Amino acid sequence: MSKTYLKSVSTSISPISKWHLIWNYWDHEHIVGTHFLHYKKVNIVFEQNNFCFSERWAQMFSPFGFPYPFYFKTNDLCILTNDNRMDVFHSAFFDIIKCHQTFIFEEKSENETKVTRYTYLEIPKLFKFLQPLYDKMFQLWFDNVWEEDLAMRERRVKLWNMGFVDFKGLDYVNDPNIPRKIVNKREPYVLKLPIPKITQIKQDESEKIKGSGSEKTFIRLFKKSKHIGYGLPDL
Ligand SMILES: [Fe+2]
Repeated sequence: MSKTYLKSVSTSISPISKWHLIWNYWDHEHIVGTHFLHYKKVNIVFEQNNFCFSERWAQMFSPFGFPYPFYFKTNDLCILTNDNRMDVFHSAFFDIIKCHQTFIFEEKSENETKVTRYTYLEIPKLFKFLQPLYDKMFQLWFDNVWEEDLAMRERRVKLWNMGFVDFKGLDYVNDPNIPRKIVNKREPYVLKLPIPKITQIKQDESEKIKGSGSEKTFIRLFKKSKHIGYGLPDL
């Protein structure tokens, strides 16, 4: 059967620098936290330098605005193709569903990065009539996930500007005996992949056999409150 593609394009501007934004895309731990409404499990099978192969158990939005009543597993290969582009290849249902997304990052200033997402879903030609529904579904998905990420992104940059160090925090908060430092200007943040992780739930025994040392599983720990970690008083 001849194939074609359903296409969807979205653009938005995030109020943070490009590398902080790309960090957010490569932070897999927050998928089951910040996006707990859509994901219940993420398993990183292998990651290194500019790529990550993972499995995700997701609940997508229907074109009508409500979530499908089931989760499905996707295999996802993320590649940081260059400093301004990320490609993600998804497959699901035994490779029957194949989808390719490209994210283009344009840093407008140190406080503003434009993202354009291109999504291509491979389908048999006879389903081409689904294009308007598909476009609506992915726009909804993009808008919802974007909104969920926003607070986390802004909070990270705010803390970064105060001298925050990944997985160490702020020394004067950790130790009240250390006087508070005022950081006027930091070196721009540059992402280094793979980013460190500390909250993996399961360490697969087979890792030792494969020798990759990079398999990590994150499982959703809550599915009701969406305010965990937010709404804290200003530091
Ligand atoms: Fe996110």
